[in-house]
Amino acid sequence: MTYTYEYFKESADYILDKIDYRPEIALVLGSSLGSLAEEIKDQVVIDYKDIPNFLETTVKSHAGKLILGELAGKKVACMSGRFHYYEGYDFEQLAIPIRVLHLLGVKTVILTNAAGAVNTSYSPGEIMIISDHIKLGEGSPVRGPNIAEFGPRFFDMSNTYTQEYRELAKQVAYELDIKINEGVYFYCTGPQFESPAEIRAIRILGGDAVGMSTVTEAITAAQCGMKVLGLSLMSNMAAGVLDQPITTEEVRETAKQASKDFKLLLREIVRRM
Ligand code: HPA
Repeated sequence: MTYTYEYFKESADYILDKIDYRPEIALVLGSSLGSLAEEIKDQVVIDYKDIPNFLETTVKSHAGKLILGELAGKKVACMSGRFHYYEGYDFEQLAIPIRVLHLLGVKTVILTNAAGAVNTSYSPGEIMIISDHIKLGEGSPVRGPNIAEFGPRFFDMSNTYTQEYRELAKQVAYELDIKINEGVYFYCTGPQFESPAEIRAIRILGGDAVGMSTVTEAITAAQCGMKVLGLSLMSNMAAGVLDQPITTEEVRETAKQASKDFKLLLREIVRRM
């Protein structure tokens, strides 16, 4: 499929028709982190399936709704549930949500996820600020005929995870007495969890956490000049660290338990952005 500017604009126009402002911050809420959306005031809720040219959520722990409203005094667009390559989407399709958010007027996107801890000094339940990412496999969300409205074909990725916001996240975590790490997110397509040997390789390559999302969104956002803050919740130790299998129940349960601190942190960061 070859995408055009009009393709994305049709989705954005549908959403803009339902609100009389332009959201400045977008939040993408990962697995089991969706409950932050409940705190948004004056909600306008749109099902992904009703947005023309948008994608549909196929993952159980993702709500599949775009929620517009006010959080901590800021106009926000919140994606409760996101899209992944493992669902069967092409990388190019994964550019859709971020490009649509860009057309809504969003300047900053906060990407959250649940991830496996590769760095053995991290513990389940802790949060990691993403300093950078590694994606070694082929495929890019911005592959294809370049659409100039979304930025240049070749673009810099050296400050994708905006320094200023990483510092802000650290400061807020310190003030709220929430333990925070900063490290590199290593992207794997999934849906299988990694093998212990893959995790050992990822550790040698410089990954601190591993997950199946976020990176496609960060690349798309970098191309169109959006600022990005990435926050990963360590839902489990990565494969082979502990002598036990990884289960989706563990991932969901840890994410749920730690979501209180996560929400507190996010809300305060949004307030100060
Ligand atoms: N690996 C990949 N993705 C994940 C993990 C993991 O261990 N935990 C949560 N998402």
